[in-house]
Amino acid sequence: MFTLLPLVEWLLQVATTIFNKRRAPRLTYHLPNSLQYWPWARAINPHLDEFHDESILWLAQFNAFDPDALASFKKGRFTLLTALGYPESSAFTFRSVCDLMNLFFAIDELTDDEPLDIVIQRCDATMDAILHPDIPRPNGENALGEMARQFWKRASDGEPMSAGVVQRFQTTWRQNLDSVIAQAERRGTHYICKPDEYIAARRDNIGTLPCFVWIEQCLGLDLPDAVMQHPLIKTLHENVSDMVFMTNDTCSYRKEVLANDCDYNMVTVIITHLDTDLPGAIQWISDYQDRSVQSFMRARQAIMERTEGTSQWSDEHHKQVLRYIDGLAVFVRGHDEWYFESRRYFGEKGEEVKRTRKVVIEQ
Ligand SMILES: *[C@@H]1O[C@H](CO)[C@@H](O)[C@H](O)[C@H]1NC(C)=O
Ligand SMILES: *[C@@H]1O[C@H](CO)[C@@H](O)[C@H](O)[C@H]1NC(C)=O
Repeated sequence: MFTLLPLVEWLLQVATTIFNKRRAPRLTYHLPNSLQYWPWARAINPHLDEFHDESILWLAQFNAFDPDALASFKKGRFTLLTALGYPESSAFTFRSVCDLMNLFFAIDELTDDEPLDIVIQRCDATMDAILHPDIPRPNGENALGEMARQFWKRASDGEPMSAGVVQRFQTTWRQNLDSVIAQAERRGTHYICKPDEYIAARRDNIGTLPCFVWIEQCLGLDLPDAVMQHPLIKTLHENVSDMVFMTNDTCSYRKEVLANDCDYNMVTVIITHLDTDLPGAIQWISDYQDRSVQSFMRARQAIMERTEGTSQWSDEHHKQVLRYIDGLAVFVRGHDEWYFESRRYFGEKGEEVKRTRKVVIEQ
C-alpha cells in the first residue's frame, strides 16, 4: 500500500499537468479589420529596390548606431513603409521620404533612453538644421543634427517645393519634436493615460503630420495654407492619425506584452479605464476605427460636393485637394499593409495573421 503512494502521486501530478496544459487558455486576440471595405487598394512605389540599400548606407555612415540597431533598421524595412505609404512619386522624392522615415526612427532610437535635457538638445538640433541647412553643424554634436541637415538640404535643393510645403513641413516638424519631448517627460512614471488624454497625445506623437506634407510633395501639389487649414482637412488628418496609431497599437500589443512594456498602448488604456478585458478593448478600438472610416468618408464626400465652405476654392485647388485625399487614403492602406509585410511584428506569419486576423501572445 505505502509503496504505491509515490507512484499514485506521480501519476496524479502528470495528469494535472496535462489537464492544465489543455485548459490553460492561450492568450489570443483578433485584429480589427476596419479597412475591409476601404476603396483604396495596396500599391507600391516602383523605386523601392533602387533606393533601399542606398538609404540604409546613408544612415550607417553616421556611425551613430550599434550593429544591433542597424540590423533592426534593415529588418524593419522602413523603406518598405515608405514605398507602401507613398506609392506615387519621382525617384528623387522617394529617396527623400526614405531618408525622412529613417530620420524618424533614428530620433526614436537616439532619444529613447536619454535624460530630458539631452532629448531636448537633440530634438532642437534637428529643427535648427532644417531651418538653416547651409550652416555646418557644430563640432561634437550628436549625429541627429547632421542627419536632419543632409536630409533637408538634399530634399529642398533637388526638386521644386511649394512655399506651402516648406512652411508646413517646418511647422509640423516642430510639433512633432514637442511631442517627442513631452513623451520623454512622461517616461518612467508608469502612468496610464485616460482614453481622451491618450488619443490627443498619440495623434501628435505618431508623427503623421510631417508625413502628410510629403504626400503633397510626392504628388507635386501646390496648395495654399487657407485651403489646408480648412476644418474638413483637419478632420481627415485627425481621423487618419487615429487609424494609424490604433493600428500601430493593436499590431504591436503582442510584442509589447512580451517585453513587459505595454503601458503606453491603446489596448492597455482601454482595459484599465473602461473596466474591460482584452477582447473588450479590441472591440472598442475596432468600433472607434469604424467611426474614423465613416468620418473620413463623410468629410471627403462634403469636399467632393463642394459644401461646408469648400465652394470658394478654385477649380484647380479643388482638383488638387481631391488628389491629396486619395494620397491620404492610400497612405492609410499602405501603413496597414506594412505590419504584415515587414516581419517586424509577426515574423514569418504576417500573411497568415493578415488573413485570419488572429494574434497569439505566446509566453
Ligand atoms: C508605432 O508606435 C511606436 C511607439 O510609439 C513607435 O516607436 C513606432 O515608430 C510606430 N511605428 C509606426 C510605423 O508608426
Ligand atoms: C474624426 O475627426 C473629427 C474632427 O476632428 C473628430 O471630432 C472625431 O472625433 C474624429 N474621430 C472619429 C472616430 O470620428
